[in-house]
Amino acid sequence: RKRLSASLACRSACSSVTVTKALRKPVLFTCSSASAPRATVMAAWVIDSYGPNEVLRFTENAPFPAIRYPNEVIVKVLSAGLNPIDLSMRGGYGAATLRMRRDPLNVNRSGGEFPLILGRDVSGVVMECGLSVTCFRPGDKVWAAVPPWKQGSLAEFVVLSGNEVSLKPGSLSHPEAAAVPYVASTAWSTLVNSAGLNKDNCSKKRVLIIGASGGVGTFAIQMVKAWGGHVTAVCSQNAEGLVRGLGADHVVDYATGAVDIKLKTLDKFDLILDSVGGDTERWAPGLLKPWAGARYITLVTPFLRNTDALGVADGMMQSALTIATKALKHFSKGVHYRWGFFAPSGPALDEVREMVDAGQIRPVVEQQFSFSQVPQAFLKLEKGHARGKVVVSVDGDGIQ
Ligand SMILES: NC(=O)c1ccc[n+]([C@@H]2O[C@H](COP(=O)([O-])OP(=O)(O)OC[C@H]3O[C@@H](n4cnc5c(N)ncnc54)[C@H](OP(=O)(O)O)[C@@H]3O)[C@@H](O)[C@H]2O)c1
Ligand SMILES: *[C@@H]1O[C@H](CO)[C@@H](O)[C@H](O)[C@H]1NC(C)=O
Ligand SMILES: *[C@@H]1O[C@H](CO)[C@@H](O)[C@H](O)[C@H]1NC(C)=O
Repeated sequence: RKRLSASLACRSACSSVTVTKALRKPVLFTCSSASAPRATVMAAWVIDSYGPNEVLRFTENAPFPAIRYPNEVIVKVLSAGLNPIDLSMRGGYGAATLRMRRDPLNVNRSGGEFPLILGRDVSGVVMECGLSVTCFRPGDKVWAAVPPWKQGSLAEFVVLSGNEVSLKPGSLSHPEAAAVPYVASTAWSTLVNSAGLNKDNCSKKRVLIIGASGGVGTFAIQMVKAWGGHVTAVCSQNAEGLVRGLGADHVVDYATGAVDIKLKTLDKFDLILDSVGGDTERWAPGLLKPWAGARYITLVTPFLRNTDALGVADGMMQSALTIATKALKHFSKGVHYRWGFFAPSGPALDEVREMVDAGQIRPVVEQQFSFSQVPQAFLKLEKGHARGKVVVSVDGDGIQ
């Protein structure tokens, strides 16, 4: 508790620092030995074009990340985590939107985002800090989710803004810690921001989690249970032991058919978290308590797909129309329809750290790969049937 309030005080101090235009040019680094010669390249897995697994290329000459804003930190990556979005991005998903985030003025029209580094989770050690970073020092063990519009963690180093980074739970090794940030930030943003839950008003709420055995699902089950809710988990039968072990109260197998019929026999729900999408969207909202503020939240959104297909402006317009139409349709039946999104947040990870160190949440690592096995790790993701997370040790066995 004391640590949490200290870190909160530190956070607000950080966010009160205004970044003036004058500071926007490259800054010198306060924390590391300024006299040491600076590395200019690092090892990384990159892609130079979008496509199948063969586009992944190992290089020892990837550009070393630079601190461009005073609130940024460079983290030495010890372990990285993979998510379905890495697979999609390898194939070009989100390219239009992400290119705009990386190159807002559209200066580099062709191939500007390459070489692109994937990998959305990092657990590692702070190496350098920008001038206005007060919360971290070189040597701090940290974890973070790297936003999709930034260079990823399948590299020796990654640059992040200080408010995306959080001190890593002391009770986890680096590979375990790398299994958490991206799914935790997604589940947190979805349950807290989209569903309006918190630890004080989740008690006894009936929550249905569809896709419960995957990365987001295994985290969401534990978060809802820690906050006193009741969890019904939908997964295939061979994942029943796993999700029960995480606290699920009731498990429904979708693989043996007619999952909607099985679910209709149960009491109605206050919240549905859907990480499967597709057909489920048709029948799942009907399982909610009508006219009681109940919400159906799906993580499978056409948002980036629309901007890829239609361009950024028209794509956003299309997404706004889609969400408005769906929200209206469901609202007329007395339930709320929302989209859930990943949102980077160091402060959310601070709270997750407390829950992990208190034993309320544990990482679920499905398989661990070495840095030389990154293509195999992607193939594992590609096979689907996740039972937790795929992580990569970037630096030896990562047990430091
Ligand atoms: N909008 C956002 O910002 C955002 C952020 C994070 C994730 N997502 C999306 O959310 C989804 C889940 O992410 P994740 O990291 O949890 O993926 P994941 O680790 O691959 O897990 C997906 C899980 O769904 C299960 N599954 C597949 N079909 C199912 C069905 N019909 N009913 C119930 N379970 C089913 C899979 O197991 P079996 O195949 O063995 O059943 C697997 O355990 C992905 O589509 C991802 O792109 C979106
Ligand atoms: C465009 O690309 C060139 C070389 O690839 C690079 O030096 C330059 O900084 C890029 N410009 C922007 C605005 O990203
Ligand atoms: C939970 O509490 C928050 C803040 O007090 C409130 O905004 C939210 O609507 C509540 N959610 C539910 C589901 O009761």
